[in-house]
Amino acid sequence: MLLSRESLPYDMFDVAYSDKEARRARRMESIYHVGQDRIWDGRAVLAELIERHGKPALAARERGALAQIFSVIMWGELAAWKISAQLTDAIVPLPGKLAAASQVHDEARHFYVMHDYLEALGERPPPLDRWSRRVLSLTLGTKSLAKKLLGMQLTIETIALTIFQRVRELEVEPVLTHLLPYYERDEARHVGLGIQMLPELIAKMSLAERIDLAVFHLDLYGSAVMSLKSLEPALLSIGVDPRSLLAIGFRKQSDIDAMLREEFPGWPEDPPEQRAFAGFCELVFPTGGFDAKVPMRERVRAAFDVARRKRPGVLEIEAEKRAARRSDALHRVAEAS
Ligand SMILES: [Fe+2]
Ligand SMILES: [Fe+2]
Repeated sequence: MLLSRESLPYDMFDVAYSDKEARRARRMESIYHVGQDRIWDGRAVLAELIERHGKPALAARERGALAQIFSVIMWGELAAWKISAQLTDAIVPLPGKLAAASQVHDEARHFYVMHDYLEALGERPPPLDRWSRRVLSLTLGTKSLAKKLLGMQLTIETIALTIFQRVRELEVEPVLTHLLPYYERDEARHVGLGIQMLPELIAKMSLAERIDLAVFHLDLYGSAVMSLKSLEPALLSIGVDPRSLLAIGFRKQSDIDAMLREEFPGWPEDPPEQRAFAGFCELVFPTGGFDAKVPMRERVRAAFDVARRKRPGVLEIEAEKRAARRSDALHRVAEAS
């Protein structure tokens, strides 16, 4: 992929679309148009929420933890702004280019609104930990269009959606709780560009290129799990178990995989990098929690078993626990009504 093309792609309309490609093109265009229809004014929304719920206020400890977690989001939004600008330049066909362009505008808004929110909270976002930095810089720095889409649309967006959902559920601070759905709606739309574009790019790759992409994916995911580990104390202090984030992320990733399979029936069910990732999660966040009496050797063995799908790991177990809690809650609501 060549970024910063110096000439205009005058041949950009010289493409003949099959029915399927035409449908995909329409979906990508609609990311732009729906984005325009649902645009929100960041300054007005934040001001209105502060007026309704009062200036965000938290105890110092919680405030520090929230600032640490949301500095990852804020710097992530800046990275997303830059990456979507790179994609806008790099993608030639009009539908994808439009989708990426609308994302640039959304991410710019996400960035300044998060900055203004943290300022209203009275916190200056600290610099990023090295692992979060790695997730962002791997995606920012790659020149491969496939890696950039995989990193941005399918990984960073999923991580952001996961954090937004969990913090919103916890109702840590009312302004933030009501602000996050605006972000979630936009980010969910952004995932669409990756789903529509990535599989076709992968289909044209050689085996060596596919392996290279899988290694990149694993590096990205592994770094994201390490970043979750480094955020663990901050997360626990606002009542978030990092395992619940893994569970939400796992569900979201499964939904994305299902959408990819619907678009491209050849999309692999359980590729080796996914299995390796499941094993790595088990090593870093063992199912039963950390028990000093469990020797490292046994933890490594458990991680290998999870990677070989001989037993379920922390991802599946936590996701199932969450689903069971949710159906219990639905049951209670149904009985009460
Ligand atoms: Fe964003
Ligand atoms: Fe986004």
